[in-house]
Amino acid sequence: MTNSYDVVIIGAGPGGYNAAIRAGQLGLKVAIIEKRDAKKLGGTCLNVGCIPSKALLHASELYETAEKNFEGLGINTGKLSLDLDQMLKQKDDAVDGLTKGVAFLMKKNKVETFFGAGEIIAPGKVRVTGDTPAELQAKNIIIATGSEVTPLPGVEIDETQIVSSTGALSFPSVPKHLVVIGAGVIGLELGSVWRRLGAKVTVIEFLDRVLPTMDAEVSKQFQRMLKKQGVIFKLSSKVTGAEKLKTKVKLTVEPAAGGSAEAIDADAVLVAIGRRPHTDGLGLANVGVETDKRGFIVTDHFKTNVPGVWALGDCITGPMLAHKAEDDGTACVELIAGKAGHVNYDTVPSVVYTWPEVACVGKTEEQLKEAGIAYKTGKFPFAANSRAKTNHETDGFVKILADAETDRVLGCHIVGVGAGELIAEAVSVMEFGGSSEDIARTCHAHPTRSEAVRQAAMGVEGWTMQA
Ligand code: FAD
Ligand code: NAI
Repeated sequence: MTNSYDVVIIGAGPGGYNAAIRAGQLGLKVAIIEKRDAKKLGGTCLNVGCIPSKALLHASELYETAEKNFEGLGINTGKLSLDLDQMLKQKDDAVDGLTKGVAFLMKKNKVETFFGAGEIIAPGKVRVTGDTPAELQAKNIIIATGSEVTPLPGVEIDETQIVSSTGALSFPSVPKHLVVIGAGVIGLELGSVWRRLGAKVTVIEFLDRVLPTMDAEVSKQFQRMLKKQGVIFKLSSKVTGAEKLKTKVKLTVEPAAGGSAEAIDADAVLVAIGRRPHTDGLGLANVGVETDKRGFIVTDHFKTNVPGVWALGDCITGPMLAHKAEDDGTACVELIAGKAGHVNYDTVPSVVYTWPEVACVGKTEEQLKEAGIAYKTGKFPFAANSRAKTNHETDGFVKILADAETDRVLGCHIVGVGAGELIAEAVSVMEFGGSSEDIARTCHAHPTRSEAVRQAAMGVEGWTMQA
């Protein structure tokens, strides 16, 4: 067999493996290279990201529901107890099943898999070092090597006392006091998991609000909900040092704007201040692939500055999300195959899988104001939605932002149970260039939470009927 391919993909995360599937479908000869230990495909997302975090969020949410809500629903189960080992095992089982699923999809689409680190050694040439060493000839090379944790100087991650998201997916026991640095998606999702299981959780955030990239009204209301659940917030604060003691970590925390420091003792610390592109050892310099000052590979429609070298997913700019990487992968391969591959980054949704969930797509009010775009707002609270009321889950709201002149939907922001599923309607409407009236005049099943989306859309033109 010759080691010569139409496409060689480095990295088997959602960007890389979906690119491989699409390449296989289009009849291209394709190889994928993955360096992760234990030969696991699926990248960050399947192994230490989306999937294990959602497995723990799901299980811990049920645990808290059983603890706090079952009695009120007329369900008595006797004394509740936590079997953390089993909870971690079911998470590992979910990961295992899905990574095997990716291996199956590679075979199904005739993708050859190489395990080891890929390095571009010359134009059109990739060396694999590791379990399946090889030198591959490639008409096209796709870099899909993803991202890694951004370190915080002075707070060194050891994955035991001071952990990244990876360590926080496998604490062997519930920490008494977990301090989370960063009130972004990881901090709030994994902070929620361990709070539900019994930890005291303090979140330290540099900026003055949680989820700072989201719509400000969403951030504010969501923070209030988390506070009610018991999460302690220290906003506008920075951690300037961490001293590891035998069983504790002593953190030094200062106001972000400067001022006197205080000490906070933690049993465990989660550093979640963002992720950065992962391009170490890839050989970018061997062929002169350009990166920006933050290390992201510079691309134009996935093309790097070097002919035949493409890049996508977390290692290029844009939202660091699995579904964005997936869409990049599909579009990039379609372009390679001479088709019209395209990703509409204006309609990439974002979901925070906490309780309740937070979901958004499109522009925030702040972004519209800054851009000087006149818009109308429609809002509907879940407290007035029959399904939410029936289920005693009334926290949150739906907000729809539409162009004041054309009524085109420009953004949708949802806090509430099921927000991650509800947002799909707004994404589809926006993808079709639809208006708030399109949503308002579409029949929605009753009783569902989706009716709140419709009522919010009615609100854009001022005819919300059920509040
Ligand atoms: P990755 O998934 O990072 O995959 C890149 C792969 O390339 C890795 O497996 C790596 O080992 C491999 N690699 C790197 N260098 C080489 C090399 N030289 N040779 C061979 N292989 C190499 N996103 C969501 O959309 N929803 C979520 O719920 C969500 N939850 C998350 C939770 C956590 C805790 C984390 C950390 C992330 C989460 N994300 C989520 C983000 C999501 O995981 C990433 O956006 C996504 O995995 C990016 O896909 P990718 O293919 O670009 O890169
Ligand atoms: P993030 O960018 O979401 O949040 C990081 C937070 O840390 C920000 O609020 C930032 O202001 C704050 N911060 C930065 N430096 C700080 C400092 N020195 N001290 C205190 N706070 C500081 O990054 P996060 O949570 O690490 O997640 C990384 C990426 O993973 C995200 O970009 C996200 O897209 C992806 N992800 C997505 C999930 C989802 O879609 N549900 C779940 C988890 C991660």
